[in-house]
Amino acid sequence: MEYKIDREGSIMYTLALETSCDETSAAVLKDGRHICSNIISTQVPIHQKFGGVVPEIASRQHIEYVLPVLQKALVDAKCTLADIDHIGVTYGPGLVGALLVGVATAKALSFARDIPLVGVNHMEGHMFANFLSHPNLEPPFLCLVVSGGHTQLVHVKTYNQFVLLGQTRDDAAGEAFDKIARVMGYPYPGGPQIDRLAKEGNENAIFFPKALQEKHNFEFSFSGLKSAVLNYLHNQEQRGIAYVAADVAASFQKTVVDTLVDKTMDAAAYIGTTAIAVAGGVSANSALRASMQHACDRKGYSFYYPEPVLCTDNAAMIGCRAYYMAQAGAFSALTLNAKPGLSITTTSI
Ligand code: KG4
Ligand code: ZN
Repeated sequence: MEYKIDREGSIMYTLALETSCDETSAAVLKDGRHICSNIISTQVPIHQKFGGVVPEIASRQHIEYVLPVLQKALVDAKCTLADIDHIGVTYGPGLVGALLVGVATAKALSFARDIPLVGVNHMEGHMFANFLSHPNLEPPFLCLVVSGGHTQLVHVKTYNQFVLLGQTRDDAAGEAFDKIARVMGYPYPGGPQIDRLAKEGNENAIFFPKALQEKHNFEFSFSGLKSAVLNYLHNQEQRGIAYVAADVAASFQKTVVDTLVDKTMDAAAYIGTTAIAVAGGVSANSALRASMQHACDRKGYSFYYPEPVLCTDNAAMIGCRAYYMAQAGAFSALTLNAKPGLSITTTSI
């Protein structure tokens, strides 16, 4: 849809909404990279008793919280809808019912107040969290996106041009963290639990296999590793041997982190970049950050990661992506719909 930005040169305000999974979030950004407000209402305590996100409950919670969260984002940013230049909203990937709440809210506001609408890809939003934490960061760079649902290596060539180098064939890294933590009796989400526990364990205590180790293979597979850890726990239990939870956590985490770092460094050499970023919930992992930093220091590469609150789901990152799309004139029509299986907008290798 064509909209005219008639305030060129003046400040641009973006209102953003994120409801793809279990966080209801709204944010206001100034000129795309300055966060005026970033309100996140988490549903984690509600889903914890079920051991994972229950889609129907998530949708209902989003309906209840989306307007108060949006209102607080505007109040905290000291602005009103009259100040907003465009509305960014996540339209995929994610849970369809959850996405629809954000999309319907954004469309209603866009229609009622005649504010241009920008449909944002959630995974692209994760990558753009790095622009908020690093004011001087500019493309090109390589981004490892690791979340609860995705594991992807993306060459960010420009603000609007991405090349997907490889992704997981089966489980996402975060999914493996969550599943293993759950079997070990830790609450959802399991990633932060494993991260904490691993600090007290021996990462070389147990050998777990790595998949797809060939050079220049940028695909991932974590289902074999997940099964290997579950088999180990099961075997120990059957033999009546108590396992050391911290050692299991540390050994599992090291296997994931080594795989992520090795493939990222291989991809950086392959595309010839010296700038590496990480994004998504798993990028908050302390061992991943330390190991990637170490690998980048050895090669003389720059390493970027978002601050913890911008690693997990939030609307500020969606606002940043929406701003750059708006600059490129990539607005959405009011027919915008939720796309649960949306993939990154890529150009081929
Ligand atoms: O990006 P995100 O908030 O939601 C999705 O888009 O999926 O990612 C959530 C995932 C969960 O699997 C969670 O366990 C994982 O990120 N996670 C972590 C850590 N913090 C969150 N995984 C490992 N270590 C962490 N510190
Ligand atoms: Zn996410």
